[in-house]
Amino acid sequence: MKILLIHGPNLNLLGERDKNHYGEITLAELEEQVKTWSTAEILTFQSNHEGELIDFIQQNPADGIIINPGALAHYSYALHDALLDAKISCVEVHLSDTENREDWRKSSVTAAACLAKISGKGTEGYKEALNLLVDAN
Ligand code: DQA
Repeated sequence: MKILLIHGPNLNLLGERDKNHYGEITLAELEEQVKTWSTAEILTFQSNHEGELIDFIQQNPADGIIINPGALAHYSYALHDALLDAKISCVEVHLSDTENREDWRKSSVTAAACLAKISGKGTEGYKEALNLLVDAN
């Protein structure tokens, strides 16, 4: 099984961003952590650019996607369509509790292309996402 683990804008700064929302873990540590939780092949990618995220999804056939789109979740219909067009199971993860922050963070347009949206569980959310993808395949 091959899984894409994708992070969107500003998530390269994990470890430096607001620790109350995102914790202390860096992106590299998070990616390593996720790999220890699964025997699947996990291909990681982060970009601050919407088009690069879409190119990566189009160019890397896989069995499932775990994506934390960052703020793109709240408005990127292009990313929504890329996830849908991949025709594989996707799970959206947010480290922070997006339901209980600013109003604009409550809605996710990309989540409509995913099996589930998990938020507010920190790194544990990624473990849950992996389990959902394994069950779906
Ligand atoms: C985030 C939540 C988004 O609203 C925010 O723009 C991020 C991180 C999260 O992981 O909690 O960049 O996706």
